[in-house]
Amino acid sequence: MRVQRTLPPSAAPIDWRDLVEGLVGLVRPHVAMQRLQAEFRAHFGVKHVWFVSSGKAALTLILRALQALSGRSQVVVPGYTCFSVPSAVVRAGLSVRLCDMNPETFDFDFSRLAEAADSEVLCVLATHLLGIGVDVPRVAGICHPQGIFVVEDVAQAFGGERDGKPFGSMGDVSFLSFGRGKNITCGSGGAILTNDDRIGEALAREYAQLPDESLAGQIKNWLEVAVTQLLINPSRFWFPAGLPFLKLGETKFYTDFSITRMDSVRAGLLRRWQKRLSCSMASRMDHAEQLRRSVPSHVQTVTPSGRGQSVYLRFPLLMRSKQEKDALCRKSAEQGLGISALYPCAVNQIKELSGTRSSQQVPESTMIAERLVTLPTHEFVSNGDLVRLCAALDSVQENQGLDVNHVLEAPGVERRAQELPRAH
Ligand SMILES: Cc1ncc(COP(=O)(O)O)c(C=O)c1O
Repeated sequence: MRVQRTLPPSAAPIDWRDLVEGLVGLVRPHVAMQRLQAEFRAHFGVKHVWFVSSGKAALTLILRALQALSGRSQVVVPGYTCFSVPSAVVRAGLSVRLCDMNPETFDFDFSRLAEAADSEVLCVLATHLLGIGVDVPRVAGICHPQGIFVVEDVAQAFGGERDGKPFGSMGDVSFLSFGRGKNITCGSGGAILTNDDRIGEALAREYAQLPDESLAGQIKNWLEVAVTQLLINPSRFWFPAGLPFLKLGETKFYTDFSITRMDSVRAGLLRRWQKRLSCSMASRMDHAEQLRRSVPSHVQTVTPSGRGQSVYLRFPLLMRSKQEKDALCRKSAEQGLGISALYPCAVNQIKELSGTRSSQQVPESTMIAERLVTLPTHEFVSNGDLVRLCAALDSVQENQGLDVNHVLEAPGVERRAQELPRAH
């Protein structure tokens, strides 16, 4: 365990006012919930909003509702995405079908999507991975003529927008996550949004069957949020980061997650979401822009395929090899820089899915899994941290003996350090 400034790879700060609002939610449950619902309806311009226990609970409910409407059973997901997504598909009793991705945009490979969109497909998940905007209208243009629903996965992209429309308002139905490390958190939680009355009615039937969160569960979540907020600060994060049994950042495939309605303590924790979202977006935009400028143009960054404002929950870079990625992650662990891989493999390599249709080949998604590193963009990242991040990228390049057209220009760190605003 190294006692040093240690950046978490992702973080969504919450302060004592949010914790107090959580407790207020406990004593005034209906007010907290109804206010949140009204605010989300207005923000996204949608008629129907539900709040549930997590993003994967939201997706499971959506899939059950869509299947009740159409009877089809296959769900197309990107070849590289959060393991919670195929977990929810399996939990809903449906099959995962993969579509390969374009590594330059992190959107679908649209020629593959057109091939996959057949009469067995229930829905396609248009996923703004890392908050990077994907072209939802183009996905809809392929899906709708085939009677396929478009589900917008906004778990990592709350706050982004395209042509003035917030992410989450473009799919036939959408979901958000308020899990740890998302743009806004209440510990764990999720929201479902739709403007479609038919889908809305099917969802209302599913939601009516959900149990409430227990009081013990509400208090446990509140306490976890409080402790996380204490430890997430870079001056203290070395402590949980040095405890391997906490398995921080580990990605697991599991289907026995709880599916309940969101409780009013969580709704209270989200009371100040608008203010928090605008602070979070401002620092993510600023940090992503500084990182983009500091990384020379020949480094492989990701360019959103859609127009508009991406979120950059973390800043992605594709290294030239797995070895180089591993070297950078090791260096980051030594120096507490918060650089990390995202998910350990593409969806077709998840062992719990082997033998199913989801074991089909997705070469570009596999390459993304091997070479992707993400840099932190959250509010705790200082200008001094940005300089250290760039220096680590440079030193990995030098140690790997790579040519100058590879990851970063070697002499660039001094120059870039000057270009960055003063560390404070
Ligand atoms: C892209 C994506 N979809 C869905 C989910 C599921 O959200 P939750 O963790 O709230 O269940 C996540 C969670 O990290 C995610 O990243």
